[in-house]
Amino acid sequence: MIVDRLGRRFRNLRVSLTAACNYACTYCVPNGKRLVPAKNELPATEILRAVTLLQQATGLDKLRITGGEPLVTPKFDEFLTGVMQLPLKDVSLTTNGQLLPAKRDVIVDSGIKRINISLDTLNAVRFRQIARSGDLATVLRGIDEMQEAGIKVKINMVPMRSQNAGEIVPMLDFCLERGIELRYIELMRMGHLLNSNSFAADFMSMEALLDVIGEKYEFARTDAPYDSTAVRFQIPGKGVFGIIANESEPFCRSCTRLRISSDGHLYGCLSNARNQHLGEVLALPDHLALTKLQGMLVSALADKKLAFQGEVTVMKFIGG
Ligand code: 5AD
Repeated sequence: MIVDRLGRRFRNLRVSLTAACNYACTYCVPNGKRLVPAKNELPATEILRAVTLLQQATGLDKLRITGGEPLVTPKFDEFLTGVMQLPLKDVSLTTNGQLLPAKRDVIVDSGIKRINISLDTLNAVRFRQIARSGDLATVLRGIDEMQEAGIKVKINMVPMRSQNAGEIVPMLDFCLERGIELRYIELMRMGHLLNSNSFAADFMSMEALLDVIGEKYEFARTDAPYDSTAVRFQIPGKGVFGIIANESEPFCRSCTRLRISSDGHLYGCLSNARNQHLGEVLALPDHLALTKLQGMLVSALADKKLAFQGEVTVMKFIGG
């Protein structure tokens, strides 16, 4: 097994199905331009082969489907159904929720148990300002439909001072009422936010978030799984929320994540643009492919940083 000097190894694969997205959120896209697929995106069969090989090579047992926005690509159905047949302990999906009602049947029928839905606001006008597309009511319907089908929903919110800071508590109320764990994601200096003034102006730290939440709720820090990205808090009798504190409390030293982009590049670290193309490895017979992969994985693990430093590599390609 490949382990580094901090004891880190790959257990957790994040698969970006496509770089395309039906939103153009302000924190992801600088100019509101539509995100399109990458040039040479892999078909579902090849991504599934990559997942199978990476699982054999690393023993990873958790997988998250992400993007771009994974529900916009036609290969979503085939990939989801295929990946649910693999011997993985945990498969989850991150989506902006806009296409959840349209994709309801394939998602429910696949047997997936957990979904994270990105939702930054409960205000329909602000929703359009942040996402620059889509509509709030459809996302809310999608959330209801997933919960009705017995799928565990978490919501991701990126709090920003100039946009949705007033919704830190209302979003939590909304989630607690529905038994949903809310995850506040500290704004990350990715892409155009790296070294930008708007990052500094909009960033809200874990401490700032807890101050606001503390005005309404009593909470206590609770445990989180070993390789969890979130710091979790219990509100007695009401529920749990988490903060993904990339800046305030980085989790790099216990990070177990490996990423594959929609065009088949392997990334060992979200804060490092270095990557390796799987390319012809996928065409080799298993034993040769596995030997090649070992070398690539050693290199990908060495790409992991000790702290999150931000990266110009845009999140959209490799799915957070
Ligand atoms: N900072 C914080 N969160 C981000 N996301 C995308 N870009 C950023 C950023 N710069 C979030 C999305 C989604 C999750 C996968 O990552 O809102 O919820």
